[in-house]
Amino acid sequence: MSGRTFYEDTRCDVALTDEKSPAYLPGAFLVAISALRAVPVITEKFLTGEGLGWHEHDHGVFRGTELFFKPGYAANLVSSWIPSLNGVEAKLKAGAKVADVGCGLGASTILMTQAYPHSTFVGYDYHDKSIEMARERAVEAGVSDRVKFEVASAKEYSGTDFDLITFFDSLHDMGDTVGAAAHVLESLNADGTWMIVEPYAGDRVEDNPNPVGRIYYSASTLLCTPASLSQEVGLALGAQAGEARMREVVTRGGFKRFRRTTETPFNIVYEAKR
Ligand SMILES: C[S@@+](CC[C@H](N)C(=O)[O-])C[C@H]1O[C@@H](n2cnc3c(N)ncnc32)[C@H](O)[C@@H]1O
Repeated sequence: MSGRTFYEDTRCDVALTDEKSPAYLPGAFLVAISALRAVPVITEKFLTGEGLGWHEHDHGVFRGTELFFKPGYAANLVSSWIPSLNGVEAKLKAGAKVADVGCGLGASTILMTQAYPHSTFVGYDYHDKSIEMARERAVEAGVSDRVKFEVASAKEYSGTDFDLITFFDSLHDMGDTVGAAAHVLESLNADGTWMIVEPYAGDRVEDNPNPVGRIYYSASTLLCTPASLSQEVGLALGAQAGEARMREVVTRGGFKRFRRTTETPFNIVYEAKR
């Protein structure tokens, strides 16, 4: 016996107090209570099938999403997810041009900017308030000289010739995912890579009613599916789309190569190339 309690030994405290721990949970609760504020309006939208835009939610959804995802990005993005892509880490270390689409408050964009000082980054999101907060985060992190944040939709951002384009938990929230894929293909350079990070999910509904899948299905009902339905096409992949549907979207957008490169209990990482 160590003389410590079970809770001390398993460091349950980090789940509530350490924002840098991948086990940090308060973001999930903030997303949940903030998303529930939309229940009356979503109940109406279910009847019409209109959907509810990401930008129409309570502010706590945006901050909660940042708090929920950032610890996982901090633990995995630079150490594991980027190295899982073919040849990308070397390009980022040497100096690459990168876009992060559907960047929200910029957690992933800023982590990459800090890790790869020779590269330049732009974060795009259609939600103006998220972009304002991302710009503030970049100033706080001291990287605003190498990262820009611009309000733009996934089908219309203006940059071209990117070495790497990333989508972190954003593709399934979009209405015209195939249109977004086609725009990514146009804006990558000849050897460019599209990195897609999506919630962990199997292809069949019966693969997913585990604790993680249940959280994602709940979020999907209130956030992801209505967000997609509110946009053009409204494909509504939801947060548990799975690899087969992702492959279909990416290849219909014109990409020839698609593979799963790595995963965690919360995320799957895919790589697409022309
Ligand atoms: C679940 S949040 C993820 C945010 C961020 N990538 C992260 O991991 O914290 C999804 C983001 O996609 C953005 N989004 C949804 N549809 C979009 C579109 N068509 N074009 C650009 N951004 C979009 C939303 O505004 C939101 O910031």
